[in-house]
Amino acid sequence: MKLRIHGFLHDLPPGPTSFPHFSYAMGKQLHENPLGTLMKYYEEYGPAFTLRFLGQEMVFLIGPEANQKILVTDYRDFSWEQGLLAELIPFIGYGLLTTDDDEHDRARKLLAPAFYPARIRSYGQRMVARAVEASQELEAGDLFELHGWTRRLALKIAGDVLLGMDTPKDRAQFFAEHFEKGLGYYDGYFWQTLLMRGPGSHQSRMKRHVEKLDEVIAEEIDTRRAWPEGGEAVLDLLCHAEADGERFTKREIRDHLFTLLFAGHDTTAATVAWLFTLICRHPDVYDRLQREIDEELEGREPGADDFFDGLPYLDMVLKETLRLYPPAWFGPRFARKEFSIYGYRIPANTHVTYCSWVTHRLPQLFPDPEAFNPERFSEKRYRALESGAYVPFGRGPRTCIGMRFGELEAKIVTAVLMQRFKLELFPGQQFPARTVPTISPRYGVQVRLRRR
Ligand code: HEM
Repeated sequence: MKLRIHGFLHDLPPGPTSFPHFSYAMGKQLHENPLGTLMKYYEEYGPAFTLRFLGQEMVFLIGPEANQKILVTDYRDFSWEQGLLAELIPFIGYGLLTTDDDEHDRARKLLAPAFYPARIRSYGQRMVARAVEASQELEAGDLFELHGWTRRLALKIAGDVLLGMDTPKDRAQFFAEHFEKGLGYYDGYFWQTLLMRGPGSHQSRMKRHVEKLDEVIAEEIDTRRAWPEGGEAVLDLLCHAEADGERFTKREIRDHLFTLLFAGHDTTAATVAWLFTLICRHPDVYDRLQREIDEELEGREPGADDFFDGLPYLDMVLKETLRLYPPAWFGPRFARKEFSIYGYRIPANTHVTYCSWVTHRLPQLFPDPEAFNPERFSEKRYRALESGAYVPFGRGPRTCIGMRFGELEAKIVTAVLMQRFKLELFPGQQFPARTVPTISPRYGVQVRLRRR
């Protein structure tokens, strides 16, 4: 496939040529069956292939070698900010996700203390409290939609731990509602609608929610800065963080906070929803996990330490869930330099992406890849995995800063729910994935609760 850059034609890896350049059809195909589409082209063209959608070429690079190159060895040659997900900037601004180079590295240094193990342990206590509260609102016999519930809970946890806005409740509620509505811009619509602008468009509606959120955050920042001792939440830490005599500006605090909320709540909520779709269809796994939770927690309310030091099978189940459904399933970048991979020379200024979802389903890395088998993640087998084979949290210097936070939250919510109820899937459901911005069950997960 030829790409014109500065008037010269360059070769790109092959790909389907039947789609016109400003391809609606490819966007639609990716929207309706993303994994099937990508697996098909991987089989047809190999680990590097080019698709045309959103009016431009995107080179998909599959497998550990690509993951290592983009994420670890040559990561500075691949820009996030100029990549496809720069579409997120009107909502989340210039936070850790969407910046590059010195700006990114400085912010990562300032944010790091919020994710030190001791802090994560203290967040764990609050995660347990919120999860217990939310599960107390559920009744045995109820038929309910699990993914909506995990999403609301994840936003509550984020409101508490990240914003410190559990009280007053109406303010936290106001914030959560506008955040969800603003984020809804990226949900469910065809990728193409992301390109539409102007009055009445989805984007202009999203911006109205952003304005309301910005007002609340600006007031919160002023309040926290006027209170030098600081509270426990990540927002307090951002307001008072200093590295080499520098502090974040107000705009930076807002952008980092939105980024953490965006990157942190949807991913975790989807993970728990997928986990239950998998274990409910594998009663042997469900039973073994239930036994582990019952034996280790002995019916008491869990503490954060239970999840760091114990519950190894829960850890394996979570890892296998994230193999099959890595919520942040692709990592778009913009190649700043020409580079070689898989026998191709790819020119500078090309959109490229790594893709954990496809890499995690390669049979040479994960035999019988469609099978749900937590045993793949026994400590010995996990350690033996090739570098770059398993990347649900990315890898390298830009690896997910919230990895421990997200894992802990997913484990807590799962265990608290399983301690109280036995979950059963309402029969006859299919679980196609919604893919933008994260993989989640498109039509939700209907479950019936039985009291244990
Ligand atoms: C199961 C839960 C989660 C998953 C699967 C996940 C996945 C990921 C992945 C794959 C990346 C790298 C993206 C790339 O290479 O382009 C990433 C980055 C990031 N994640 Fe997460 N994440 C999760 C939870 C969280 C949480 C709870 C937070 C914050 C509270 C968070 C904050 C971030 C941030 C700020 C980045 C950007 C890091 C950087 O570029 O330096 N994530 N996440």
